[in-house]
Amino acid sequence: MHEFETYLAAAQAAARLAGKVLEEWGEKFTVSEKGPSDLVTEADVAAQRGIFDLLHGRFPSHGFLGEEGLNRAGNSEFRWVIDPLDGTSNYVHRFPYYCVSIGLEWNRELVVGVVFDPTRNEMFSAAKGLGATLNDKRIRPSRFSSLSQALVIASFPPAATCDSPAVQRFMRILPKAQAVHRSGSAALNLAYVASGRLEGFWSTSLKPWDMAAGALLVTEAGGRITRTTGQALDIEVSDLLATNGLGLHEELVSALTDTV
Ligand code: IPD
Ligand code: CA
Ligand code: CA
Repeated sequence: MHEFETYLAAAQAAARLAGKVLEEWGEKFTVSEKGPSDLVTEADVAAQRGIFDLLHGRFPSHGFLGEEGLNRAGNSEFRWVIDPLDGTSNYVHRFPYYCVSIGLEWNRELVVGVVFDPTRNEMFSAAKGLGATLNDKRIRPSRFSSLSQALVIASFPPAATCDSPAVQRFMRILPKAQAVHRSGSAALNLAYVASGRLEGFWSTSLKPWDMAAGALLVTEAGGRITRTTGQALDIEVSDLLATNGLGLHEELVSALTDTV
């Protein structure tokens, strides 16, 4: 077995466990605000605890970074990057578009990624050099090549206003694309680009845990991921553009960076 497959299997087990925790808390959670419109529930924290206990139990030397206050340097070249619940506002409203996102870096390179949607029992998985799958079936991005044929999604910072640059960029793309949405889960958007349900997704306000797993899904599926400027992606920098890799990638770079 390839070494990364061991880590992939562990990530899948942790994501399923966290998905179960989210569904169990679905009837009883209470909501707090970390900041304006930035929500967290007991489910976020309990899901992260479950993921950490499983992965740390198996790989005690590995580092960890998780949204809910988890930051452990570890003693190896591996680091897990975890969003236990991406799409908390959807979860709170029982809008079924949220997921668990778990990525693994090896020497700062993404090598494993899983995005699990517990509401549809969909496990999106990727490992470096081994391709990307949905419930064990190979996935690929879509074939629509131009922005005018594309369904694209943007994500905004939690407390975006009419004047936010992210909203202005969204308005610039509206007349150019076939459809433009805002969905509330960056990681699931990336899984949808990878699996051909969506042509493009961008944001300039993401955190490493929103991007890590989904970024590998997109590249392993055969899509393209850069910053909105077209430069190389760095998950420590809050700027991402993911597409099916066809001509609409350049169209989006040019429309998103056009400040006139
Ligand atoms: C949020 C989602 C959303 C994005 C926000 C993120 P959370 O993550 O990914 O799509 O627009 O910037 O914070 O808070 O639900 O984990
Ligand atoms: Ca998130
Ligand atoms: Ca989260």
